[in-house]
This record gives sequence, structure tokens and C-alpha cells, in this order.
Amino acid sequence: MPDDFMTHRDQLADLAAAGRLRALLPRSGTDFSSNDYLGLANSPRLRDAVLDALLSGVPIGSGGSRLLRGNDAEHERLEAEAAAFFGSESALYLSSGFAANETLFATLPQRGDLVVHDALIHASVHEGLRCGRGEPASALHNDVDAFADAISHWRQGGGTGRVWIAVESLYSMDGDRAPLDDLAALADEQDAFLVIDEAHAVGVFGPDGRGLAAHLDGRENVVVLRTCGKALGCEGALVCAPQVVRDHLVNRGRGFLFSTAPSPLMAAAVREALRIVADEPERRAALKGLVAHAETEFAALGIPASGSQIVPVILGDDARTMEVATALQAAGLDVRGIRPPTVPAGTSRLRISLTLNVTAQEITSLAERLAGLLA
Ligand SMILES: Cc1ncc(COP(=O)(O)O)c(C=O)c1O
Repeated sequence: MPDDFMTHRDQLADLAAAGRLRALLPRSGTDFSSNDYLGLANSPRLRDAVLDALLSGVPIGSGGSRLLRGNDAEHERLEAEAAAFFGSESALYLSSGFAANETLFATLPQRGDLVVHDALIHASVHEGLRCGRGEPASALHNDVDAFADAISHWRQGGGTGRVWIAVESLYSMDGDRAPLDDLAALADEQDAFLVIDEAHAVGVFGPDGRGLAAHLDGRENVVVLRTCGKALGCEGALVCAPQVVRDHLVNRGRGFLFSTAPSPLMAAAVREALRIVADEPERRAALKGLVAHAETEFAALGIPASGSQIVPVILGDDARTMEVATALQAAGLDVRGIRPPTVPAGTSRLRISLTLNVTAQEITSLAERLAGLLA
């Protein structure tokens, strides 16, 4: 009898041979790796909001797709409050940022459309593009001219459909920001749509923590994705967009239609997280202080500032990156090494994530350890 999983075993063996086999580990050490930037995942306010909702009868499970019996008042409340908070015409809550990007890019671009995305765009956008009808094109990271060139090239080749521009406002592995205003101007000029993923910026930047794209919400050609599992400390994602986009996703978005709606309790948690983000600016200020402290400590090691809470330390070599990460973890500092394919070949790095789960002193200890390891 053949071994049913032989191919899979072989693939795992290949990964192991290349030193790329991954395994799930229990959480341990000081948090330099989560995306819980504002320390909300464990906040008493969030916990109380969920407990209150639970005790007042909000169900744990939604019981079905939103279009069947899964549509709960908590989902609708969250969407109304999110649209009002961010200033978009509408919002739609999906079960994860991955599902949201996949659904957006598999659904919105039509046959004959072009989707120009930043070269460093998240895997979930690629996944959507694979299932969708738009023609993908990659543009050099954060290079507005490269986006414009890709559009001209496509038009010269006979492209006549609509153009979609896909970017992150703050890049997850580099911590740098997209030139959003220039991209919005390009989108206007080209009669294009601009889709902005605010996964790592919402809660952390912008007025009331509304993110780096807050001033672009409400435009007819802008769609903004806000994931809820990072600074908001919860789970799921909000697509903030013109009403027609929401209606289209509700009718045609397979990742929405054919999926059980997120827990209504989680919707209640996200509502509270949005309130905390607005009411507790001191969290953003404290994070800013930690980022400034880290910039000073790391500058002495020659590590350039990214301007955000995500600090990449690019070592280049895969094995060395993992060695340094392992040594830090052994010292109780939970820093993770990131290798291709998550980042481009030759750019393996430590991804240091700064959150309110650490103190300035712990950042200093990390810098001291790094000094020894990088010397
Ligand atoms: C830029 C970006 N978009 C989307 C996602 C996916 O979001 P979620 O974790 O909610 O599935 C991530 C997650 O790492 C991300 O970094």
C-alpha cells in the first residue's frame, strides 16, 4: 500500500534540509514579536466588554453565514460604529485580515482590469489575485513612478479596464510607510481605485488612532482594510468603503458568502477596542516613547530607525538570522527571525515589534544582548 502522504513528507524533509522547517512553540519570553502594539489583547476594558456582552445574551457562535442566520445585531452595530469612526460610507466585518484581502482581490477587480500592487504586499493579496480576474502587476516598493509606469505600460499594451492600486500604509516586515498622498493623487489621475491595508497602522497612528489613511476614507475610489487582530487586540477585519463596495462584497464575495460569520462576542470586543483607541491616547503616546527609546538604543548598534513600532534588523543570511533569534529567545527575549519567502531572498531579518507589553528597560536589555550577538 503506497504511503498516502509521501509527497508531503518529502516536502517537509526538503524544508528541514534547507533549515526552513517551522514548528509551533508555546508563547514565552518578553514580547518582541506580537502585533499587540497597544497591549489591548489582555486589557481589562476589553475583557469586561466581552463579559458584559456574554452576560447580556450575546451568543458565542454566530451559527451561520451572515446571509443566512449568522447576522447578529453586534456585527451591524460594529459596522455602523466603525464607518462613523473612520469616516467611510460603510464598513463590513470579516473573520480575518487574510480572508478580507483574499475576498477583496478575488471579487472587486473585473476581467480586463489591472491590479498594480507594491512588491512587498502581503501574501493575502496575492492569494486573492490568484483567484480573481484582475491582471496583477508588481511595482517597486514605495516607488510611485513605478506604479505610474506599470499603468502606462499596460495601457500601451491595449489595457482598457479599470486600474486598482494595492498598498499597505505601514509595511509589516519593514515598518516603513507608503507615500499615500502621492498614490491617492495617482489614483485620481488614472481614474483608478486605491486599496489601502492599514493592518499595522490602525490604532497606532493618525487622529484618534484612526490610522495613516484616515484622511482618505470617504473618497469614492478608496477602500481601506483595518485588521482587528493587531493594535486592536481582537480578531477579524473591517473593510471600510463606499456602500456599493460593501453591497458587492455581500453579494459576490465568496470569502464572505460561504463562511460562518465571526463571533458576535468578537464584534462586541472590536467595538470596545475602537472606543479604547479613541479614549486612551496615552497608549499611543507611551508606544511612541518606547519607539523613540528603541531608536536611540539601536542607533548605537547601527540599526536604522524605521519610523514606526516595527524595527527590522536585516542580517541577510538565513542561518545567521535564525541563530541570532534563537540566542535572543534563549535569553528570554522573544524576537523572531523572518526568512524568505515571507521576505525577499537575501533580506532575512529579525523583526523587532515594539508593544506596550514591554518596558524601556527591557528594550535596553534587548539592545545590550544584540550588541554582543551582532558584534
Ligand atoms: C499587512 C497585512 N495584511 C493582512 C494581514 C492578515 O490579517 P489577519 O492576521 O487578521 O488575518 C496581515 C497579517 O499579518 C498583515 O500583516
